[in-house]
Parts: sequence; structure tokens; C-alpha cells
Amino acid sequence: MRTRAFILAAAAALSGCGEKTGIEPQRMADAIFAVIEADRASYTTNVVNRLQNEEKVIKADEHWQDNQALPLPAQMMRMGAERVAEQESGFNYALLSQWAINKQNKPRTDLERQGLAYIVENPGQNFYGTEKLGDTEYFTAVYPDVAVSPACVSCHNEHVDSPRKDFELGQTMGGVVIRFPL
Ligand code: HEC
Repeated sequence: MRTRAFILAAAAALSGCGEKTGIEPQRMADAIFAVIEADRASYTTNVVNRLQNEEKVIKADEHWQDNQALPLPAQMMRMGAERVAEQESGFNYALLSQWAINKQNKPRTDLERQGLAYIVENPGQNFYGTEKLGDTEYFTAVYPDVAVSPACVSCHNEHVDSPRKDFELGQTMGGVVIRFPL
């Protein structure tokens, strides 16, 4: 997949000659985010929306394996993120939220909590910071994930596991967290 190829190249650039070529961590994170976001939007538009809503061929369903359905866009992204994590490059990304349906998507570090609070309070802005986890210093970026369609709002508000039931169109529902070692 495009995302992974890019990320591997990015990780190689980081561990190898990131400093020599002068890639700023923020530009690096922004570029990685652009790829993740482009893949997510393409899957949502050209696979889920086309096959489910327009051509009515197959549905997207959280229980996609049991129901012979397409994975939800958020699940698709998590599958990619899990494969990247398996490569133990130190680089990782995730779609997180203070109001996560899936408990695995809750923030785990102080900086993640701070970043998610920041992007909710400052619509349209990203959050950048550094954090030390174990012995390693990381650059961590948080990008807003906005309710761009009524389907985002209704599915989350009605979901039995959703801790928040009053999302509105245009609100920030969570964020994409990208982290890599400095
Ligand atoms: C049909 C239901 C459905 C739709 C539509 C939907 N989501 Fe979700 N969303 C989920 C489920 C279920 C998860 C948990 C997936 C997982 O297992 O990681 C999730 C995960 C998320 C997460 C990670 C935090 C969490 O709640 O676990 C964010 C942020 C999110 N969705 C935002 C959105 C946005 C923004 C849209 C619209 C562009 C959207 N969702 C559309 C059901 C949906």
C-alpha cells in the first residue's frame, strides 16, 4: 500500500540521513499525515461510499469479518497502523479520541491527551510536541479528525460503546497521532 511504502522510506530517511538532508520533524510529520489522510479519503470515497451508498453492492460494517462486509475507514487505518507497528521501526501512528468507541483508541500518554484537548479547543490547528518515553525522545504530532459527514455523527452518537452521544457536524471527533524518534 502507498502509505506503507512511503512510511518505510520516511523511516529510513529518519534513521539514516534525516539530519543531514535537513528534514524538519514537523515537515516530516505533515508529509506522513498527508499520505495517511489521502489513503483514508480515497478508501472512504472510492470504496466505501461508492460500493455502499452509490452502487449498493456491499456494506461497511464494524463486524466486517462475520458479516462479509467492508471494514470501516477507521478500522482500515488501524490495520495499516498495526502492520507498521509490527515492523518495530519506532515510528507509529493511530486515530485516537477522548471519546473513543474502541478503548484501544484512547490516548495513552500525557502529550497525546494534551494534543487531543488542544485540537478540540482550537479548530483547524494541529498540535506538535516532544515527549520522552522510556529512554527515547519522540516527536509527536496530532492532527484533527473532523465530522465531515452526517454519517460520522450519527454512527458515533448511536453506537452503544460510544461514551459521547452529542457530536455535531463539523466538530473535531478525535485526532491522528503521528510519533517518531528524534
Ligand atoms: C458506521 C459507523 C461509523 C461511521 C460512519 C464512522 N465511524 Fe468512526 N468509528 C466507528 C467505529 C466502530 C470505530 C472504532 C473502530 C476500531 O475498532 O478501531 C470508529 C473509530 C473512530 C475514531 C477513533 C476513536 C474511536 O472512536 O474509537 C475516530 C476519531 C472516528 N471514528 C471518527 C470518525 C469520523 C470523523 C467519521 C466520518 C468521516 C467516522 N468516524 C465515521 C464507527 C463509525
